Amino acid sequence: MSAPTRASGAAKARAPKAAPAAKTKTGQPKRERVFSGIQPTNTPHIGNYLGAIRHWVAEQDLYDNIFCVVDLHAITLPQDPNELRVAVRRLAALLLACGIDPNRSALFVQSHLHEHAELAWILNCMTPTGWLNRMTQFKVKAGDAQESASAGLYTYPVLMAADILLYQTDVVPVGEDQRQHVELARDIVNSFNARFGETFVEPRARIREVGARIMSLDDPEKKMSKSGAEASYIALLDRPEVIRKKIARATTDSQRTIVFDENRPGIFNLLTIYQLLSGQTRAAIEAEFEGKGYKEFKAALADLLAATLEPIQRRYDAITSDPGELDRILAHGAERVRPMAEQTLRAVKERVGLL
Ligand code: TYM
Repeated sequence: MSAPTRASGAAKARAPKAAPAAKTKTGQPKRERVFSGIQPTNTPHIGNYLGAIRHWVAEQDLYDNIFCVVDLHAITLPQDPNELRVAVRRLAALLLACGIDPNRSALFVQSHLHEHAELAWILNCMTPTGWLNRMTQFKVKAGDAQESASAGLYTYPVLMAADILLYQTDVVPVGEDQRQHVELARDIVNSFNARFGETFVEPRARIREVGARIMSLDDPEKKMSKSGAEASYIALLDRPEVIRKKIARATTDSQRTIVFDENRPGIFNLLTIYQLLSGQTRAAIEAEFEGKGYKEFKAALADLLAATLEPIQRRYDAITSDPGELDRILAHGAERVRPMAEQTLRAVKERVGLL
C-alpha cells in the first residue's frame, strides 16, 4: 500500500479522537476518499462531462466523495465579477443536474473555505520553483504573455494540491490534462512528509483510457476547451439545434469509411464520443455505420448528444428555479467538509511551527 494511507499517515496528523479507522463499525473496509474540482469559467462542455463529471456521478457509491467548484482557480485569469458570481452557481446547478447527489457527495465552492488559500500559501513556500517551471499548462495558458500572467496562474497547481491534500484524498478522478498537476501534488506530499513527518495521504490520479482527452470539434489536434471558440465544443446547455449545427460542421477528413483510426483525429474523436455515450463496442459501431457516410453518422451522433443532454437540461431548469435550495446545498456541502479541512490545516501549522 502506498504510504501514507488515510489510516496511517493522515491519522498521525489528525487529532487522535477523529483518527479514521481502516474499517467501519460493521467491519466493512473504509471507502477511499475522492476529491475533484472544476472551474466555473465559461460553460462546461462534453469534454468535462466525458472526462470527469460522468465518472464522479457513476462512482458516487464506491467512494467518499468531495466535489468542488474552484472559483479561486478561476481568478488566476481575469474575470468579470458579476459573471463569475453567476458562473459559480450555474456550474453547481449543472453538476447537480448531471447527477451529483448532495446526499452521497459533498458539493461546495472553494472560496467558501479559507483553508484552501491558507494551505496553498504554506505549500507555495515548500514548493521549488523548478517544479512549477515544468508545468505545461502554465505555458499553454500564459502563451507569449508569461511576463504579464498572474503569479496565481503560475502557482495554480499548488492551490490544486492544497485542494486535494486538505481532505487526505486517495483518488483524484480527472481528465488527462490534469495528470501533471496530480503528479505535482504527489511530489509535494512526499517532500512535506519527509521533512515534517507523515502528514498527508499520497493521492493518485484516476484517468480513463477512453475519453480522458476529448478533442476540439473544429481542430481535432487540440483539446476541447472552455476557452476555445464556440464551434469547438458542445456545451452541456446547448440545445438540439445548436448541437446539430456544431456536429455537422465538425472537422473530419476526405476519406469515407467510419472506423476508429487514430491517424484520422477528427472522425476518431467523434466516434469516441459516440462510443462513450452509446456504451457500444467499437466493433459494433463500425458495423452500424459500415457503408454509410459522415452525414448519417453525424446526424446519429447529434441525436445521441441531444438525448443525453436533454434530461440534464431539464433538471438544470428545475434546480435553477429554486435558488434558495441551491444555496442550502452548497452551504451544507461546505459544512460537511469544513472539519476535515480545519483538522488538516491545524496539523500542518503545528508541523511547520505556526501553531
Ligand atoms: P477544468 O475545470 O479545466 O476541467 C474539469 C475536469 O474536466 C476534465 N477535462 C477534460 N476531460 C476530457 N477531455 C477534455 N477535453 C477535457 N477538458 C477538461 C479535466 O481534466 C478535469 O478533470 N485544475 C482543474 C480543477 C481543479 C481540480 C482540483 C481537479 C482544481 N482543484 C483538485 C482535481 C483536483 C481544472 O482546471 O479542471
